[in-house]
Amino acid sequence: MVSRPRRIADVPRPSAALPSAVPFALAITLVLTACSGGVQGKPGASGVRDPYFPKLGNGGYDVTHYGLTLSYDPATKRLNGTAEITAKATQDLSAFNLDLEGLDVDEVTVGSEGEGADARWNRAGHELTVRPHDDLDKGDTFRTTVRYSGTPETLTDPDGSEEGWLRTADGALALGEPTGSMTWFPGNHHPSDKASYDIKVTVPEGLRAVSNGELKDETTLNGRTTATWHIAEPMASYVATVAIGRYDITRSTTKNGLPVIVAVDPTQAEASKQVLASIPEVMEWEEANFGPYPFSSTGAIVDREEDAGYALETQNRPVFPGAPDTEFLVHELAHQWYGDSVTPRTWRDMWLNEGFATYAEWLWQEDHDGDTADEIFNSLYKGDYYDDPELNEAVWAFPPAKPSSAAHLSDSPVYERGAMVLHKIRQTVGDDTFHDIIGGWAAAHRHGNADTADFTAYVEKSAPDADFGAIWKDWLYGEGKPAKP
Ligand code: TRP
Ligand code: ZN
Repeated sequence: MVSRPRRIADVPRPSAALPSAVPFALAITLVLTACSGGVQGKPGASGVRDPYFPKLGNGGYDVTHYGLTLSYDPATKRLNGTAEITAKATQDLSAFNLDLEGLDVDEVTVGSEGEGADARWNRAGHELTVRPHDDLDKGDTFRTTVRYSGTPETLTDPDGSEEGWLRTADGALALGEPTGSMTWFPGNHHPSDKASYDIKVTVPEGLRAVSNGELKDETTLNGRTTATWHIAEPMASYVATVAIGRYDITRSTTKNGLPVIVAVDPTQAEASKQVLASIPEVMEWEEANFGPYPFSSTGAIVDREEDAGYALETQNRPVFPGAPDTEFLVHELAHQWYGDSVTPRTWRDMWLNEGFATYAEWLWQEDHDGDTADEIFNSLYKGDYYDDPELNEAVWAFPPAKPSSAAHLSDSPVYERGAMVLHKIRQTVGDDTFHDIIGGWAAAHRHGNADTADFTAYVEKSAPDADFGAIWKDWLYGEGKPAKP
């Protein structure tokens, strides 16, 4: 009998509501740019046609770096921000869009480093359309600076879960999967455009601001504390975070010298002490299973349960709602390889995140005197994995590679059935080749983006003699429960 493990999908999580996108006015842009000299640029697209969020992200440029300077006061709930966005034009551009939900835009300039010219801009829904003074040529690297302010919004999804800017008991917490990061900074908010970041946050003295990457500086002046975080490796905006509150921040290193930065809400200190002490051990086990860790620091952010509500694999250090158990830690840290480093090309490829992170839990259990992955697989197939028959049935609701709608991206077929796909591959190729495949996959797309077709091609190349046709057809793309386990 297989014990029922904690199911991550039990935790309420955002189910992907996007504020209604109002069509934005480009007509005026077209008319005005028609008379600018040199190359005739066109406006960049207002979305990248994600199958679930067509207006998310923007076309015509590729962001390489975000420099965010923020200040936030929980007492007034106001955020003041400056976003310096360095990007490369991928077409001649007369105008381009950024995604920004709520907040007031105070000024936009576009230019090269240090010398920006005032740009015109207008807003419609979450589309901020910027028309630079001069057209941008394909290949140009340009810097857009947006000054903005206001009270950041929390996006409430149909299932009642929340993302974006969450106000907490002692501050705020930014969670961005799948669309929420547009509530606290303007940008190209689609997972396909990853960039490095510098995030500088000023908060009232006594509070701390925790983010991704490494803490480069923390200075208190005139009753305000400024923390400067640097994120060198490419990051998708949905795993960017800022956590503001009363945190105890501790820094240690793993055996091979990787910084471990852990921020814990003092109310969670006692309960999370032991599990957080196991981060180096979990990291070592994951490196042995998935290959070299892709980032320059690790850790965790532990907030109160009522503040976060669900966990998120924010880059370098996942956010947890209260003290996690070890498997939960294993899951979120596994996402650093699968999700944060190898990032889905679109939201349809979400099972490449959750299937892997769930399978990481199974492998951990198998290696630590728990149920084997095979036992878990069989129990799910048989339908006695969960106590609730409805949950057992829900595993078969839709194919992992084709979620039925944006509202179901975080459902069980993406998690458990996604993991079952990986187990089918393991059964087909054997443990050694399977080990090579999961590590090789992480290495092949390190710091990049990948989709399901990339994955199936990679698996086929790794085991040229095996036939995966039925696995893809029945387990990955097929509706309903496959006829055979
Ligand atoms: N990715 C998170 C995890 O598995 C869960 C999650 C948080 C999520 N927010 C989401 C899943 C939004 C889908 C959509 O740990
Ligand atoms: Zn996950």
